[in-house]
Amino acid sequence: MSSQSILDDLVDQARSSFAQALSPADLENAKAVFLGKAGRVTELMKGLAALSVDEKKSRGAAINQTKQAIEQALTERRQALAQAELDAQLRAEALDVSLPGRQRMPGGLHPVSLTMERIEAIFGSMGFDVAQGPEIETDWFNFTALNTPADHPARSMHDTFYVEGGTPDEPHLLRTHTSPMQIRYAVQHVKKHRALIERGELMPEIRVIAPGRTYRVDSDATHSPMFHQCEGLWIGENVSFKDLKVVFTDFCRTFFESKDLVLRFRPSFFPFTEPSAEIDIQFQAGPLAGRWLEVAGSGQVHPNVVRNMGLDPEKYIGFAFGMGPDRLTMLRYGVNDLRLFFDGDIRFLAQFN
Ligand code: DAH
Repeated sequence: MSSQSILDDLVDQARSSFAQALSPADLENAKAVFLGKAGRVTELMKGLAALSVDEKKSRGAAINQTKQAIEQALTERRQALAQAELDAQLRAEALDVSLPGRQRMPGGLHPVSLTMERIEAIFGSMGFDVAQGPEIETDWFNFTALNTPADHPARSMHDTFYVEGGTPDEPHLLRTHTSPMQIRYAVQHVKKHRALIERGELMPEIRVIAPGRTYRVDSDATHSPMFHQCEGLWIGENVSFKDLKVVFTDFCRTFFESKDLVLRFRPSFFPFTEPSAEIDIQFQAGPLAGRWLEVAGSGQVHPNVVRNMGLDPEKYIGFAFGMGPDRLTMLRYGVNDLRLFFDGDIRFLAQFN
């Protein structure tokens, strides 16, 4: 082998050795073999010492070229490895720009909550306070104080969920209606104005609505074990059925945004009112036009109930009503199955906001 072909062979060896290096660290090791202090090129250089001056010149130049060729091969391999590393990194961090972004779901109020807010706003504008009360009630507030003692047949109208924690004399239950709030609110009101009442002066009128959740053992397309009610109560010295009619007609027309809505007060029975009436409404236009739709129970507050509020029924009189916000929501939006409100399906709920 000529001395030049030995040098060419060395460059080839270096190239293939560098090509086999798959990481920068491998490449540094391979580099040391050829270009290191004890490497092959250094060894060749050392061999020059034994040569004549002319030979040194030509041989030295040839070795230098070899060294440069190896350095060139090293640089190329370094760049190739760096590029490969960059490519791998870019692949690993690739963004799929065709992927839909993470959307923020806009929040919104439940349709029944929208109805509740609407009820509160309308009655609020008529001077009604808004009161909240417990969903776990005592037998006294839910029934007895509302003129429905233990043996009263009207009790069987309510399929009651009883809960633990009461006594045989005073069972605890999930309130079957919001009517207990009549008593709770009135008792507080009377307490607040006791001094006035004891002096024989007239207390400020009670004017309140009490919206909230109510419970009965019942479940079908128009009944849910949990449903909503909104109670209304207006007690004063001179509050009459006429006032109930005006207030409730006003409310319904505002709520449904329908000036020509017609109301009908249909004689009924509730233990806590006498006389009692079922309130029906009739739209004059739209898909429900011409049908009587029941929306509330109402009546003049029974003297026994006024007494249980701590007031003298000879002096104070008024009316009460109880309506179903779920039903109002169904009528307002044209929903035909009550259960849709409580299934929690976003596709249904998103339509109301
Ligand atoms: N509490 C009754 C019910 O759940 C509704 C009701 C009727 C409430 C007449 C009233 C009323 O305040 O006067 O069926």
